[in-house]
Amino acid sequence: MRYDEKSVRTIQVKTKSAKYPVVVGSGLLPTLYRRLPKRNRVFVLTSPEIWALWSKRFLASFPKENQPSVLFLPTGEQYKRLTYIEQLASQLASEHADRSSLLIAFGGGIIGDMGGFLAAIYMRGIDYIQIPSTLLAQVDSSVGGKTGTNLASGKNLIGSFHHPLSVFADIDLLHTLPDRELRAGLFESVKAGVIRDTRLFRFMEHNPKTILKRDSKALEYIISSSIRMKADIVGIDEKESGLRMILNFGHTVGHAIEAVTHYRKLLHGEAIAWGMLAALQLGRVRGTISPTYADRVERTILAYGPLPSFKTDAGRLLDATSRDKKNRAGVRRFVLPEGIGNSVVVENVTDSELAAAINWMLRRVREA
Ligand SMILES: NC(=O)c1ccc[n+]([C@@H]2O[C@H](COP(=O)([O-])OP(=O)(O)OC[C@H]3O[C@@H](n4cnc5c(N)ncnc54)[C@H](O)[C@@H]3O)[C@@H](O)[C@H]2O)c1
Ligand SMILES: [Zn+2]
Repeated sequence: MRYDEKSVRTIQVKTKSAKYPVVVGSGLLPTLYRRLPKRNRVFVLTSPEIWALWSKRFLASFPKENQPSVLFLPTGEQYKRLTYIEQLASQLASEHADRSSLLIAFGGGIIGDMGGFLAAIYMRGIDYIQIPSTLLAQVDSSVGGKTGTNLASGKNLIGSFHHPLSVFADIDLLHTLPDRELRAGLFESVKAGVIRDTRLFRFMEHNPKTILKRDSKALEYIISSSIRMKADIVGIDEKESGLRMILNFGHTVGHAIEAVTHYRKLLHGEAIAWGMLAALQLGRVRGTISPTYADRVERTILAYGPLPSFKTDAGRLLDATSRDKKNRAGVRRFVLPEGIGNSVVVENVTDSELAAAINWMLRRVREA
C-alpha cells in the first residue's frame, strides 16, 4: 500500500534545549529536498551498503546544481570510534564545510550516533538531520539527541547531547531491512509499549503476524507510537536525571549480555529482549508485577523472536551489570514494569535476587 502526503505524521519533540519535528510516513525520500532547510552545502554521512540500495531515491529530489557531498562510514560497531570521527571531520574540512553547512545522517543507529556526534563537535557544532534506515533507529536512536562513539573499554562512553533539526523516518526504507534487524527493532517497540503505552502494547500483542509481514499501516502506527512515547519522556527529562531512565527497561541485563558476548553474537534488540525476560522474572519473584501481566509481556516478546542462544554464566553477567552506565555511586539502578504501560526505577535489587533472575533466563537461553 502506498501513502499519500496526508498519511505522513509529524511528532514534535520539545525539550528545554530543542524543538524539532519527527516526520513518519512513506515516500519521504523522493520529496526530501523541499523538506530541508536551504543551505549552500549539504553533506550526507551513510554506509556503502545503504547508499547502494537507496542513493537513487535519496538524490531524486536534489537539483543538479545542489547535489550533496557524500561521506562514507563502513558498517559495523567497530567503526563507531573516535578515530573515524577525526577522519570524517578532516573530509568535511577538506571539502570546505563551514558552520552554515548541513549534515544528514542517513543510516542505522551507528550512522545516526556518529553523524550526530560529528555534527556536535565539527566547528563546535553544525546543524544535522537524521534519516534513520533501520527500525531500531526509527523507533529509538534517532530521537532524543544522544550521540556518541565507543571506546575500547565500553560502548557509547564518549558522546554529547546534540539534537537534530528534524528527523525523517521513511517507512519505505524498511523494505530492504533484513528480517533479523526488523525483529530487533520490534523488541524496542514492545519495550515502549510495556513502559508507557498500553495501546501500543496491546496492538503488538495482538498483531505479530501483520507486523512481521511489514504491513505499512501497522509499521506506521508502531513507529509513530514509539517515537511519541520517547518524545514525551525526553521532553520531561532530556538529560536522563530521572524519568528517562525507564527507557532502559531490559537494558541492565541486555547491555551485560552484549558486553560478555563482545557485541558479536546478538543484535542490540535481541539482547534487550532477553534482558526484558530477566527483568520480568525479577518482578514476578518480588511480587511487583502480577504473574498474568508478566506472562502476557513474555508471550509478546517471544512472538517477535526467535531469540538467539549464547554461552555465558551468571557470574560474568552479574559482574557486567555492576559496570552499567546507569549505576550511580555503585548503586545498581533497575527498571521494573509494575503493569502494562507503567514501570518504576528501583535501587535495591540485591546481587542474589538478580543472580536468580539471570539463572532463570540462562535456562531459557540454553533451550533456545
Ligand atoms: N542514540 C541513542 O539514543 C541510541 C539508542 C539505541 C541505540 N543506539 C545505537 O544504535 C546502534 C545500533 O543501531 P542499528 O540497530 O540501527 O544498527 P546498524 O546501524 O549497525 O544497522 C544495522 C544493519 O542494518 C543495515 N541497514 C541499515 N538500514 C538498512 C536498510 N534500510 N536496508 C538494508 N540494510 C540496512 C546496516 O548496513 C547494518 O548492517 C548502536 O551503536 C547503539 O549504541 C543509540
Ligand atoms: Zn535499546
